[in-house]
Amino acid sequence: MPPKPPARAPAAESPPEPKPELSLEDLPGIGSTTAEKLREAGFTDLMELAVASPGDVAEAAEIGTATAQKIIAEARRKADVGGFESGTSLLERRKKLGRITTGAKSLDELLGGGVETQAITEFSGEFGSGKTQLGHQIAVNVQLPPAQGGLSGEVVYIDTESTFRPERIVDMAKGVGLDPSAALAHIHVARAFNSNHQMLLVQKAQELARDQPIRLLVVDSLTAHFRAEYLGRAELAPRQQLLNKHLHELLRFGDTYNASIVVTNQVSARPDILFGDPTRPIGGNIVAHAATYRVYLRKSKPPRRIARLIDSPNLPEGEAVFSLTTEGIRE
Ligand code: GTP
Ligand code: MG
Repeated sequence: MPPKPPARAPAAESPPEPKPELSLEDLPGIGSTTAEKLREAGFTDLMELAVASPGDVAEAAEIGTATAQKIIAEARRKADVGGFESGTSLLERRKKLGRITTGAKSLDELLGGGVETQAITEFSGEFGSGKTQLGHQIAVNVQLPPAQGGLSGEVVYIDTESTFRPERIVDMAKGVGLDPSAALAHIHVARAFNSNHQMLLVQKAQELARDQPIRLLVVDSLTAHFRAEYLGRAELAPRQQLLNKHLHELLRFGDTYNASIVVTNQVSARPDILFGDPTRPIGGNIVAHAATYRVYLRKSKPPRRIARLIDSPNLPEGEAVFSLTTEGIRE
């Protein structure tokens, strides 16, 4: 095996040591064939197994229920099922919260000082409202040193609509005084072909984050594949279930690596609304619950955009105006 390249020097504000994650094969009685069957059925880590029913595991792995029960019991012992975290450790973790500047002071202030780590920030809005531009800009800004509003970090960028533009990164890097080729090298882009692939990429991101100081994960767009694949009322429940799982995996990534999660979301028409804005973000209450910060974007006089913080638990609702310029997002 070739030697692993050395990890980059830790960022000025270093992320917490990620827990080494055990794989399915670490459980007694699970060989590579069984592990593969389980993964195909969606049991991708110990936690999934720990909370599974013996019947489901038996069926997925084509084993007896008694064996499945043993596997689950072992997964519970080994997985960090916990669920409880002491107030002290929670406080310690919260102390490490970082923030990434968006490039516009007013928008940073709206978010309480920038895009927070260990949290999901959702940018929603109609086409052309600036969601993808914000994703690009934050992917550049996270690379800045903390004194300039960054976290000296690298980025995982999950692109579901093929709208990632390296040329735009070059412009924006120049705009903040970063070397464009270094800025591009620090953004790990993956195109997600469907919603399953999109979810799988979060696991790939975990592998990457063990060696690279990933401090930002962008999903642009969070909901497009789910929306296109699960059509109609009957499929709403399975769609929401998967979306929920995806969001929780994202959140777990953010907690483990002290990274920010930025997701974009389209809006859909709301036929029931006669007055006010007749659109709302896709994904309904599932996204509403998982996202810590929800920012709704709308177009104003070009190149301006208006951002509104919607249902935030700890920040006052308000609006911020920013501009989409050639160098990127600006006040
Ligand atoms: P959808 O993905 O279609 O839903 O839209 P979005 O919200 O992701 O919009 P996006 O972020 O792609 O915003 C597009 C807008 O950004 C354009 O209408 C332009 O105003 C601006 N923009 C994009 N690229 C450039 C650029 O190179 N220079 C400048 N000045 N503005 C740009
Ligand atoms: Mg877009």
